[in-house]
Amino acid sequence: MSLVGSPKLSNETFTQLRDLIYSKTGILFSVNKLYLLENRLKWRLEYSGCVNYEEYLYLLKYDPRRTQEYQSLFNSVTTNETFFFRDAIQTKAFYEDILPSVVMENEKAGRRELKLWSAASSTGEEAYTLAMQVLRRGLKAKGWKISVSASDINSKVLATARQGKYGPYSIKHVPPDYMEKYFNNSAEAYQVLPEVKNLVSFSNMNLIDGAAMRGMRDFDVIFCRNVLIYFDHEAKKKVIESLYDSLRPGGYLFIGYSESLHNISRAFKLKHFNKALVYQKEL
Ligand SMILES: C[S@@+](CC[C@H](N)C(=O)[O-])C[C@H]1O[C@@H](n2cnc3c(N)ncnc32)[C@H](O)[C@@H]1O
Repeated sequence: MSLVGSPKLSNETFTQLRDLIYSKTGILFSVNKLYLLENRLKWRLEYSGCVNYEEYLYLLKYDPRRTQEYQSLFNSVTTNETFFFRDAIQTKAFYEDILPSVVMENEKAGRRELKLWSAASSTGEEAYTLAMQVLRRGLKAKGWKISVSASDINSKVLATARQGKYGPYSIKHVPPDYMEKYFNNSAEAYQVLPEVKNLVSFSNMNLIDGAAMRGMRDFDVIFCRNVLIYFDHEAKKKVIESLYDSLRPGGYLFIGYSESLHNISRAFKLKHFNKALVYQKEL
């Protein structure tokens, strides 16, 4: 709810802001999310010197500063919850089934290279988890070329990700042996070691930006988890089609535990690894 005296977001302006956010990001604020959006944009009004939401909308549409403001808008409207080793069933399937299978296939093809992508990385825990698991498999030591790309639309979370310093919430599910091997623990933070950091590169990328997505090619495994839930059907379809094109034939896609490709795409083969569901691009 808005505070007494603070600007109110009208239904009409909500609809226009919502449409604009959707067209830029794929994120859909449903009608019952008016107060959520009002709350998230309250600070943007203050920082940009707008007295109400109508002025803020005008700024986004016509002001010469609008390009910078878009980045701040994206930072304000995204939800960035994440932590290391999120979803034990999926991380186990990646380590025990997918990774060995991809390594075997690439080895057979004479390609000692592994390309992974955390495609809505938030503050980086997912990407670093993948890097740690690859190191744990000893692939780097065996001379494999490893790269973990990580991207997000929110520039603030990317800045945190690049630092690789975390608090207790983020590391709550890190197994003790990984904790010992891949973190430097000081009084103020848990710092990811350079050996892990060096495998990961972060970039600002919008999943619904088809042109940017076309630059992402030949991935063995893509993690795009817990972001499709914020999109509507059309945006999900668009993103999944792009991710399909970004995978090698035979490559794997992980989506969030509560997400599904039902009615979104029939191009993938759905595979079960114990309780984990993983989508595979046809060979
Ligand atoms: C809830 S986090 C998920 C983080 C991680 N994948 C996980 O599962 O723990 C969702 C992330 O998606 C990002 N996001 C939302 N819309 C996006 C878009 N259109 N393009 C790229 N990233 C987006 C948000 O900024 C946020 O950091």
